[in-house]
Amino acid sequence: MTATPLIEAETPADAAAIEAVTLAAFGPGRFAKTAERLRERSPLAAGFVAREDGRVIGSVRLWSISIDGVPALFLGPIAVERSSRRAGLGAALVQACVDHAQAIDGLGGVLLVGDPPYFTRFGFLSASAVSLPGPADPRRIMWLPLLQSVPSGLACSR
Ligand SMILES: CC(C)(COP(=O)(O)OP(=O)(O)OC[C@H]1O[C@@H](n2cnc3c(N)ncnc32)[C@H](O)[C@@H]1OP(=O)(O)O)[C@@H](O)C(=O)NCCC(=O)NCCS
Repeated sequence: MTATPLIEAETPADAAAIEAVTLAAFGPGRFAKTAERLRERSPLAAGFVAREDGRVIGSVRLWSISIDGVPALFLGPIAVERSSRRAGLGAALVQACVDHAQAIDGLGGVLLVGDPPYFTRFGFLSASAVSLPGPADPRRIMWLPLLQSVPSGLACSR
């Protein structure tokens, strides 16, 4: 019998499985994305996996950034294995990120680059006045306000 997937903090032992799930979802082209430029300069703040029978079937990560001096987290990449989609795991991974962010003192909010039709349901708002270290479609830049309403300025590592 297959157990209900669990959402847990990632561990160093999950690294290869996380890479495999992310590669399957986005392909190698993800390394060309501007979001990756920001991630490669930023410390990993936290990561969560969806685990089924011990196997990683979904992943999301949070990176420490700041925007015009406002401390924030940058969410992504988020990916769920194709055969496990549309069962709420993506939502559960986003919720784990939101819960983590809410527990951090002084955090302005959570930034991401993603599809607005997916992320508005979690309270993310358009943040088209935020720029990244490279080209990004401003319509896909989104912000979940915690202490800070939608900011403007360049997102940098913290
Ligand atoms: C995005 C992703 C993580 C969602 O995972 P999931 O476990 O299927 O998410 P949930 O079960 O919580 O939500 C599924 C719902 O979101 C919708 N959805 C999924 N991706 C979407 C997108 N990019 N835009 C709009 N809606 C989307 C699904 O159609 C589904 O709708 P329904 O509830 O009406 O059936 C998964 O589809 C994935 O890995 N996609 C490939 C990687 C990717 O594109 N990640 C970034 C998205 S910007």
